[in-house]
Amino acid sequence: MSSQPGLKSRPLSPAVAMLDLHPAPADMARLVIEGLSRTPKQLPAWFLYDHEGSRLFDAICEQPEYGLTRTETALLNRHAPAMAAALGKGVLVEFGAGSARKVSPLLEALAPPAYVALDISAEHLRQACRNLQQRHPTIPVLGICCDYSLLQELPQQPLLAGRRRLGFYPGSSLGNFDPAEAVTLLGQFARLLGGDGRLLIGIDQPRSVAALEAAYNDRAGHSAAFARNLLVRLNRELAGDFDPASFRYEAHWQGQHSRIAMALVSEHEQQVSLAGARWRFGAGEALITEYSHKYSPEAFRALAAAAGWQALERWSADDDSVSLHLLQPATVGSAPGRLSI
Ligand code: AVI
Repeated sequence: MSSQPGLKSRPLSPAVAMLDLHPAPADMARLVIEGLSRTPKQLPAWFLYDHEGSRLFDAICEQPEYGLTRTETALLNRHAPAMAAALGKGVLVEFGAGSARKVSPLLEALAPPAYVALDISAEHLRQACRNLQQRHPTIPVLGICCDYSLLQELPQQPLLAGRRRLGFYPGSSLGNFDPAEAVTLLGQFARLLGGDGRLLIGIDQPRSVAALEAAYNDRAGHSAAFARNLLVRLNRELAGDFDPASFRYEAHWQGQHSRIAMALVSEHEQQVSLAGARWRFGAGEALITEYSHKYSPEAFRALAAAAGWQALERWSADDDSVSLHLLQPATVGSAPGRLSI
C-alpha cells in the first residue's frame, strides 16, 4: 500500500495518543481486485479485522477448542520476569496488539519507558490503549492504527526517539503470512527495531489434526461468523452484494504446507458485484479468508535466521503446543540466510 492517509494525532488522556495510518478505501479496493483475480481467490487476512471482526476474534480466543490464547497467556504470566530480564530496557512495541490482553505481565515486569501498540482495527485499538493506560498509569501509551506488515519505519515520535526498541508479537500471527512473506515481515521488524532491538514472538506448533481443525471450526460457530463477517464488511465498505448465507465456512489442515486453510465456499454458482466489478463464483469454489501456518521450533528458527534473527531463548508450554521465542539480530558477519520453501 503506497498511500498513507494523513497522520492524525489524537490525545486521549495525558499519556495516550493515537496515530491513524489505516489503508485508504482505494488501497483496499485495489487489494480486493488483486485477491479476487487470483486462483484460488484469496483476500489479505487483515480484512477480517473490522470492529465486529475484532470482537468475534476475541470470542474465538475464549472458545474451549482454541487453546492458543490461554496457553500463551499462562506462559507470559509465569515467565514474564525472566522474559523481561532477557529483553533488557527499552520501549515495548507490540505488533497486531488487538485487545492487548496479553501484554500486562510484561509491562509490569519490564516497566518500559513507553508502550506502542500497532493494530489494523482502530476502535478496538483505541479501547485497548485506554484500558491499558488505566491499568498502567505510569507508562506512556501510543496506539498506531496501521497494516503493520507494510510499515517501513516507526513514525517519528518523541517517546521512541533515541530509545532501544523491544518487539512483542504474540498470538502466532506470523502464521497468517505465507512463509516467504513471514521472512519479509521478520526482516522488516528487524529494521524497525534496530541493531540493538529484540523480538519476543509467540509461535503455535503443529499437533493433532483433529485438535487443530476443531480450533478453527469451534462448535459455537464463532470461527464461521468471523469469516462470514468479511463479506459483510466488503458489502459495506466496497459496495458489494455478497449473500453471506450462500457461502459455507470450512477449515482444513493441509499437511504438505503445515497450515490450516480457512475458506468461504460458494454453495452454488453465483455472481457478485464488488469494488466496481462482477465476480463469478463456481459451485464449491473457495475464497480463502486466511491461512494459519504452524512451525516446529526448528522450522521457526530457520525462518527467523533467513530474516537476520538469531534465537536467544525459548519458553514453551508443557505440552509444547505453543512457544515464545526471544530473538536478537544475528551477529555482524552472519548474513541473513536463504530459506528454501
Ligand atoms: C490471529 N491469528 C493468529 C489467528 C490464528 O490462529 O491463525 C486467527 C484466527 N482465525 C480464525 N481463528 C483464529
